[in-house]
Amino acid sequence: MSAAVSLRAEGISHRFGPLEVLSGIDLEIRPGEVTVLLGPSGCGKSTLLAILGGLLKPERGRVVMHGTPPPGCLNPLTYVFQDFALLPWRRVAANISLVLEGRLPRPEREARIAEVLALTGLSDFAHAWPRQLSGGMRQRLGIARALAVRPAVLLMDEPLSALDTPTRLLLQDEFAATIARTGLTCVYVTHNLGEAVRMGHDIVVLSRRPGRIGHRLRLETPLAQRHAEDPALRAAEAELWNAIRADAAAATNEMDHG
Ligand SMILES: Nc1ncnc2c1ncn2[C@@H]1O[C@H](COP(=O)(O)OP(=O)(O)O)[C@@H](O)[C@H]1O
Ligand SMILES: [Mg+2]
Repeated sequence: MSAAVSLRAEGISHRFGPLEVLSGIDLEIRPGEVTVLLGPSGCGKSTLLAILGGLLKPERGRVVMHGTPPPGCLNPLTYVFQDFALLPWRRVAANISLVLEGRLPRPEREARIAEVLALTGLSDFAHAWPRQLSGGMRQRLGIARALAVRPAVLLMDEPLSALDTPTRLLLQDEFAATIARTGLTCVYVTHNLGEAVRMGHDIVVLSRRPGRIGHRLRLETPLAQRHAEDPALRAAEAELWNAIRADAAAATNEMDHG
């Protein structure tokens, strides 16, 4: 698959009524990399992701896509949701088929479904119902459905936040392997520091609202070669934590001193 597409956010600002959520965001999402948007709850991560994905028009600024989507791409900017967003009355394969129906002839649909089920380890569950899957398997299905459209950019909004910690850690490894294999450009939202350094090549800390780019950190180790004990990852996590703590302290000082 292709790794050619990048996104550039230029001067993004947004407010909901009186609430200023994002302010002057300039951000390059590099091709074939995972860019993590990290920050405390309410800082505007999902809003920025929706703007990057074209679901929300920003009050100011624009998003430009560079590069050519991969062959057979049905939806260049594709979401993976925290709550999985599966249809309970459709079997596993039919949940994937949903995004392909009316867009591809049946044989090609079936080939794609088989391909993404294999990629996410769900081949044996094609005929199961979503309710028969564990939480982790449901999100593997969420990823499979997203990959079935051959996206150019995968936009993931806290995809593992609904899962228990062991499942979450296992799926981090699985998703890292899948993303590495596809070479996809990803934007990955999380509030979890460990997850940020596990999944990200480029980690962007958003400051407290209105979200600005506070701190940025690069991790060159390929996703497939990262280990929990890697001192470089633990040092990166500490650096991110310091950045978040400093931002929170600055906000407290503003309150203290007016
Ligand atoms: N559609 C909306 N209308 C009004 N306020 C919103 C809307 N979406 C989000 N907000 C507010 O904007 C802020 C940022 O939200 P969000 O981007 O979801 O933050 P995050 O994903 O970082 O937790 C929050 O205070 C939230 O309540
Ligand atoms: Mg959010």
